Amino acid sequence: MSILTRPLKAFHVQLSAIDFEQLAAQGYLIVPQFMNQPTYQALYQYAQSLTPNDWHPAGIGRGEQYTQNTAVRRDRIRWLQPDEGIEQAYLSAMEELRLLVNRELFMGLFDYECHLAHYPPGAFYRKHLDAFKGRSNRRLTTVCYLNPDWRAVDGGQLILYGKNGQILETILPKAGKLVIFLSEVFIHEVATGHRDRYSITGWYRVNASINGVIDPTN
Ligand code: OGA
Ligand code: MN
Repeated sequence: MSILTRPLKAFHVQLSAIDFEQLAAQGYLIVPQFMNQPTYQALYQYAQSLTPNDWHPAGIGRGEQYTQNTAVRRDRIRWLQPDEGIEQAYLSAMEELRLLVNRELFMGLFDYECHLAHYPPGAFYRKHLDAFKGRSNRRLTTVCYLNPDWRAVDGGQLILYGKNGQILETILPKAGKLVIFLSEVFIHEVATGHRDRYSITGWYRVNASINGVIDPTN
């Protein structure tokens, strides 16, 4: 693989061949400065400007299997839509990333969906997997953070676990950071936070029907 960098025009960020090699080898990747400051500032302000009606309690599963379980997660979410300018800007950047990942890693990712998430103080998301093998089209999870000046005492870390239940990474949700991981592989959790915490979580999906069901629930 060449050492040439892969530019992501939307965020003026350069991902390197090493980044993709790491993603392929480990199944996850952390990019501390993925979004530039003007971008995450604008998204942070936008998220804060939304009114309670713009948010929905996060659920678990989709369609008929959708349930709200406040013992498992306490965040509020808002799915990003292409008709909202700043939401579209983020979606376009992640579309660029989708094409790059497919080119570098041949993952055959077909589309992307993502939501803003707001964790008020005291909120968490207990250990979970984003997708179960054979039951979901989700292959790759992305989480991007919008919180300026986040410190360890603020809590809210994303904790990634390995196959034997060991902690692989404890990640502070700092503005501009991107975390990518294989959705079916890594159990993870969001530790209780003590400040308002904003993130954009998304999933690249493949276009396969499972047991004759197109777009199965996750
Ligand atoms: C999720 C999730 C992690 C985070 O929304 O499924 O795990 O750090 N989010 O916000
Ligand atoms: Mn998750």
